[in-house]
Amino acid sequence: MAATEVQEKPQIVALISGGGSNLQAIIEHIANGIIDAEISLVISNNPAAKGLERAAAVGIPTAVVDHTEYDSRESFERELKRHIDAAQPQLVVLAGFMRILTPDFTNHYAGRMLNIHPSLLPEFKGVNTHARAIAANASQHGASVHFVTSELDGGPLVIQAIVDINQDDTAAGLAGRVLQQEHIIYPIAVKWFCEGRLSLDGNLVRLDKQPLPIQGIAHRVTS
Ligand code: GAR
Repeated sequence: MAATEVQEKPQIVALISGGGSNLQAIIEHIANGIIDAEISLVISNNPAAKGLERAAAVGIPTAVVDHTEYDSRESFERELKRHIDAAQPQLVVLAGFMRILTPDFTNHYAGRMLNIHPSLLPEFKGVNTHARAIAANASQHGASVHFVTSELDGGPLVIQAIVDINQDDTAAGLAGRVLQQEHIIYPIAVKWFCEGRLSLDGNLVRLDKQPLPIQGIAHRVTS
């Protein structure tokens, strides 16, 4: 690299739909120097998402692509893609983004889009995961970070936080404990990616070139 060249930090675009607490965790890890990257844009499909305020409060540019204003998933995604690609990010982070994405879209970002889902995937894909885990009498629940593929909540796993379910757990109580762990594991995965340590090789996730086990790295919470 020539002496005058400036090495740019990895750029991240985050997609949100709601509270944005996972976004906030990533923002804080960047602010504290733990993740060496820059969030160049936060996009929400929901104009009322609190996460937009969180981003604006720290000077991150925001955009709203309101899915209700588009007559098809494809036209919504075309606009989403236009915003994302203009920012030329190394990584796209889905942080509570609650829209189903078409294979065209997910293929376009193959190997550079991460999602966090509140369950121990492949268990409990979709919504209401905490209530479903309790109803199923599961002893453990948690959250998973995975690369996004065309299969909904089905991409290769990077890291999982494993949380014990207590006998008297409510869905809300369990969701709160899982969310706390989300705020730990998502920044870890983002950090690995931004350091060039994490990659997707076909269906295999590699960390420091080594293939990860199928369930990713386990982060066990002791209660
Ligand atoms: C988080 O629990 C995240 O795992 C979940 O939405 C919540 C967003 O919270 N995502 C999904 O369910 C995606 N399938 P946040 O907006 O406070 O980060």
